[in-house]
This record gives sequence, C-alpha cells and structure tokens, in this order.
Amino acid sequence: MADDVGFCLWFTGYSGAGKSTIANVVANELRNRSHRVELLDGDEVREHLSAGLTFSKADRDINIRRIGWVAKVLARNGVATITAAISPYRESRNAVRGEISNFVEVFVDTPLDVCEERDVKGLYKKARAGEIPEFTGVSDPYEPPLAPEIHVSTNDRSVAASAAQVLSWLEEKGWVRAGPAPRDPN
Ligand code: ADX
Repeated sequence: MADDVGFCLWFTGYSGAGKSTIANVVANELRNRSHRVELLDGDEVREHLSAGLTFSKADRDINIRRIGWVAKVLARNGVATITAAISPYRESRNAVRGEISNFVEVFVDTPLDVCEERDVKGLYKKARAGEIPEFTGVSDPYEPPLAPEIHVSTNDRSVAASAAQVLSWLEEKGWVRAGPAPRDPN
C-alpha cells in the first residue's frame, strides 16, 4: 500500500547460512500482511543484474553496490525490500547502510563449520579441494557485523523462529502490519 514505510532488510552471512531460506519465509509473511515485497537474492542477482562478475573483492563490492542501489529505490517507494547476499565486507555493507533509509542489517549467524557440514550446494567441498578460488570462509574473508540491528543465531532455533525474530523486530518498529488475528476456535 502506498503509505507503507519502506525499509531494507539486509541479510548477511556465509553461503549456506540460511539467508535465502529465512528471507523467503519473512517475505511470504509480509505478503500475507499485504505488504509489497521484493526479495533480491544473491544467486538470482548474479544471474541477471551482476552477470559476469567474479568473486574478487572488487567485483563483490560492485555487486553489493548494485544490490544496494536497487534496494534504495525500492525502499524509498514503500516496498519491503529484502536482500540476501553474503556481502562479506563490513565496509561495503556500511556504504549501503549510508545510502538507504530504514536499513536493517540482519546477521544470519550460522558458524562456518555448520554451513560446511550442510554443504547444500556442494561448494565447500569443491572449495576445499581447490576447485573454487576465493571462496568465502575457506579462502576468502567474512567480516561479521559488529552491531547488526538483528542478530539471528540459527544454531539454537528453527527457520520459523528465526523469521519470527525478524518480524517481531519490524513490528516493534511499527513498520509492518500485525499478523492475522488468531482464529476464534468457535
Ligand atoms: S557476494 O560476496 O557478492 O555477496 P553472493 O551472495 O552474490 O556473494 O553470491 C554467493 C553465492 O555464490 C554463494 O552462495 C555460492 O552459491 C556462490 N559462489 C560461487 N563462488 C563463490 C565464492 N568464491 N565465494 C562465495 N560464494 C560463491
């Protein structure tokens, strides 16, 4: 709706941390509450907006800047904007933070060994074998946020609980409509 407060939920964390999974649950819940939602997912962005970019620091920074620019124009139009890219460098996250009103950094804090153990896409194995250079956490840095607005420790909670944590934060801010009232059992 036109009068909605726009904001940007900026998910950051290792590959396989659960950024996209949690972001999707949050996005669906916000849609159910009649918010206009856009989810800029790292993998999808790299297929389209950032096609051809590598994983060098310079290219990651360009990727983050691009996502940040799109997020900015969406958020300023009242869209609930959600991004889910590793965004490993503190400096580039802080740069986009400075550009976007209502920027909310969401640290999906899943330890590297857990991500590697899951290895959903089989990429950690390849990275350890030296088949993928500059792989975040293996041969490339990840700088965790120092003061994220939302710190999700995924280890001790479910995806649903992690999503609920994000939604509660937004509700407390007054930026999202409340969820549907519990059904009357009668
Ligand atoms: S970012 O660093 O620029 O923010 P982004 O989120 O777009 O990264 O892309 C990360 C995804 O690309 C990972 O989840 C993984 O599937 C894939 N990928 C391929 N190569 C690498 C790499 N060298 N480092 C990290 N992720 C990689």
